[in-house]
Amino acid sequence: MPSALVTGATGILGREIVAALGQDKQTWPTVYALSRSQKLEWPENVKQQQLDLTASAQEMAKELGNVQPEYIFFAAYLAEDSEEEATKVNGAMLENFLEALKITGASKHVKRVILTTGAKQYGVHLGVPKMPMEESDRWLTDSDRPPNFYYKQQHILAEQGRQQGWDWVVTYPNDVIGVAKGNFMNLATSLGIYCAITKELGQELMWPGSPAFYTKFDCFTYSRLHAKFNLWAALEQSPRVSNQAFNVVNGDVESWQNMWPKTAAKFGLKIPERMFTPDEESGTMSDAGSVTKLMAHPPLTEFAAERGLKDTKYTAQSRVEQKIDLVKWSQRSDVKAAWHRLAKREGLEQDAFEKATWGFLGFVFGRAYDIVISMNKARKAGWTGHQDTWESLSEAFDELVGEGVLPAFP
Ligand SMILES: NC(=O)c1ccc[n+]([C@@H]2O[C@H](COP(=O)([O-])OP(=O)(O)OC[C@H]3O[C@@H](n4cnc5c(N)ncnc54)[C@H](OP(=O)(O)O)[C@@H]3O)[C@@H](O)[C@H]2O)c1
Repeated sequence: MPSALVTGATGILGREIVAALGQDKQTWPTVYALSRSQKLEWPENVKQQQLDLTASAQEMAKELGNVQPEYIFFAAYLAEDSEEEATKVNGAMLENFLEALKITGASKHVKRVILTTGAKQYGVHLGVPKMPMEESDRWLTDSDRPPNFYYKQQHILAEQGRQQGWDWVVTYPNDVIGVAKGNFMNLATSLGIYCAITKELGQELMWPGSPAFYTKFDCFTYSRLHAKFNLWAALEQSPRVSNQAFNVVNGDVESWQNMWPKTAAKFGLKIPERMFTPDEESGTMSDAGSVTKLMAHPPLTEFAAERGLKDTKYTAQSRVEQKIDLVKWSQRSDVKAAWHRLAKREGLEQDAFEKATWGFLGFVFGRAYDIVISMNKARKAGWTGHQDTWESLSEAFDELVGEGVLPAFP
C-alpha cells in the first residue's frame, strides 16, 4: 500500500491533495501532511507534522527521521517581493527537502515526486503569452526576462530524480479556485468578500478589472480537480506520464461576461446594464482605478516571427487595467467600516478582510489579454477529469460560508 507525503498541506492546492488522499484510506493508508504552522482536521490515516522548509537539509532531516513516503506531493510555496528572491527561496525549499530525505535514507523508498507549479511557466504575469499554452512551448529564458522559480524547481526535480532513481510529474494550474486561510493567492475569498461588502454598501456589483478582459477568456483550476489529477498522476504507470509536465485546468474556457452575472445573482446583487464608460472602454481609468504596464516585450514576442506576428499590434506591451483598483478600494474607510459591521453582525472572521489578496485579484481581473491553456497533453495521456468552472466557484463560495468567511447567501 503506497504512502504519501504532502508539503504545503494548509495551502489552497496542498490541502485538497491531503483531503483526497485522506478520503481514500484503502489506497493511501499512510499520509504525512507537512506545513509550517496551522493544523487542520484530517482523517486518521493523515499524520500532521510541522516542518520549516527554509531550514537546512540537516535540520530538516532531524525532524523527518521516521517519515518514509513513496509518493511526494510538493505544494509548498513562499511568496517573496522579487522574482530573484522567490527563485532563491522556493528553489532552496525543494532542494533542501529532497536532500533531507537523502540524509535520512527515505529517498531509497521514493517512487515519484509530483511538483505543483503554475502557468507563470508561460509568463502569464509578464504579458500576453503564446496561445493556447502548451507544455512543449519553449521556456522564456532570454537574458532580459526575470528569473522564474518554476524553471529552477523543475531543473532541481529532474536532476535529483536522475541521481536518486525516482521519477516525477509537474503540474501547471492557473487562477486557482479553492479555499484556504491566510494564503498568498486566493481568488474566491477575495472576490467573495468584494461581493459581500458591495452588498453591505447597497451598491450594484461593478466589475473592478479590465474592461477589455471582461469579454476575453481565462482557464481556471479547481483545487479539488487538481488534487484528483495529482493522485492520478502519482499512480499512472504510462510512459506518457512519467517525467512529464502537464497543464492542469478545468477543461472549459470561461469569461467574466458569463460568470459575473452569475456571481451577482449568487450574492443577491444586480449588475449595471452598462458596466464601462467610453473612456474606460478605450483604456483610460478614473482616479479610483489604475493602469500598470507589464514587460516591454510580452512572451508572445518570442514566438511572433514564426507565427507571422512580428512587429504587429499583437505583440505590443501588455497592461493591467483596473477600473476599480482593489488595493485602493480595500483601504477606503467606508469599505473597511462596511466589512467590520457585516463581520460583527454575521459572526464572520474579522481578519478575513485583511488576509484577502487584493493585489492578486486585481492582477487576475486586470490583465487585458486572454489566458487559454490546452489540456490536450493530459487527455492524450489518459486523464479524463473535467470541471465546470462556474460550479467550482459557486462551491468555493458555499464552503467559505461554512468557514465563517462569507455571510450566508440569500
Ligand atoms: N493560488 C493560486 O491561484 C495559484 C495559481 C497557479 C499556481 N499556483 C502555484 O501553486 C503552488 C502552491 O501554491 P498555493 O497557492 O497552493 O500556496 P498557498 O495557498 O499560499 O500555501 C502555501 C503552503 O506552503 C506552506 N509553506 C510556506 N512556507 C513554508 C515553509 N517555510 N515551510 C513549510 N511550509 C511552508 C504553507 O504552510 P503554512 O500555512 O504553515 O504557512 C502553505 O501550506 C505555487 O507554486 C504557486 O505559485 C498557485
